[in-house]
Amino acid sequence: MRIAVTGSGGRLGRAVLAALAEAPFTGISGPLAWHRPDYDLDDPAAPVRLLDRDRPELIVHTAAWTDVDGCAREPALALRRNGEAVGALADAAASAGIDLILISTNEIFDGRRTDGRGYRPDERPNPINAYGTSKLAGEVAAARAYGWAVDEAGEPTPGPGRPPPTGPSLSIVRTAWLYGPPGNDFPEKIAHAAERSRAAGEALRVVGDETGSPTFSADLADAIVEMIGSGERLAGIHHAVNGGAISRAGWARAVLAGLAIDVPIDEVPGSTWQRASSPPAWAVLEAGQSPATLEPLRAWTAALADYLPTLRRQLAGRPATATSAPR
Ligand SMILES: NC(=O)c1ccc[n+]([C@@H]2O[C@H](COP(=O)([O-])OP(=O)(O)OC[C@H]3O[C@@H](n4cnc5c(N)ncnc54)[C@H](OP(=O)(O)O)[C@@H]3O)[C@@H](O)[C@H]2O)c1
Repeated sequence: MRIAVTGSGGRLGRAVLAALAEAPFTGISGPLAWHRPDYDLDDPAAPVRLLDRDRPELIVHTAAWTDVDGCAREPALALRRNGEAVGALADAAASAGIDLILISTNEIFDGRRTDGRGYRPDERPNPINAYGTSKLAGEVAAARAYGWAVDEAGEPTPGPGRPPPTGPSLSIVRTAWLYGPPGNDFPEKIAHAAERSRAAGEALRVVGDETGSPTFSADLADAIVEMIGSGERLAGIHHAVNGGAISRAGWARAVLAGLAIDVPIDEVPGSTWQRASSPPAWAVLEAGQSPATLEPLRAWTAALADYLPTLRRQLAGRPATATSAPR
């Protein structure tokens, strides 16, 4: 099976490529890595050119402008990269009968939920920042390209509609709080920040009122590849995160305990953190009942424990000044 992966140099893209390289169904030549400058979100002609050149049967679209603060400062550019560019890719792929797996985010939800439950795939999106708005625009553009029933006003049908029973498949896989190689992720940033706080003799300030499900890129990649390999129909919206939920401060404590870094943590409200984008306070996703083609991911605590040796190597290879402040 010929599978192309966009954003192949990114956190998830490289994990998907690694998982596909191990899969029995990708053949001896392995998956196709589409990265810049070949595949550029700013080049609307790139999808047709690449489809003609490589003729994949399935595309995993991980590429996106993921700088949420950059998206907040330049919302029109965010819409072009995360919305219109997805539409161009999906139009080209759907017309050529190619399946598409689109990676999306919890940030299409407003995060104002207070009942302790995660957002399910059939719940109504309501983004509160430019990044979430642009990612939802991408979902809707892809849904239209694949002939899903999309309600113009977004109501009363929650989500970007229902897939048709035949034709090429679109899967929308939403995830949250991704971390993993090559690092520069929350665990790495918090470790560096903790070292700086310890050196300064200060407590480490971490946001306490934002909750989510930290998700290991390797686990998500394995689940996506298993879903492809299952041969079952992929179409639909899937929520895929490691199990459980934790606040940013709780996640920080778990990372620092795993690295044996001892520093007091001062929990602060997210509103005290100056930044361009406003993250949803409740970033928890629930898998829902169907479709059942994506296996549930293990608990986030077990996944983090597996990441720690890699994280230690990354920390040893990168000075503390190389990362920006975490939240
Ligand atoms: N990170 C999270 O916490 C999170 C949470 C939920 C959902 N997601 C979604 O998961 C997916 C993967 O995220 P990630 O964490 O792997 O992101 P990432 O590490 O930032 O990787 C993004 C990839 O997109 C590529 N890209 C960015 N701008 C591009 C452009 N103009 N043209 C072509 N390629 C471009 C990057 O290419 P270069 O390598 O050349 O820069 C990189 O390979 C995204 O769709 C994201 O929206 C992420």
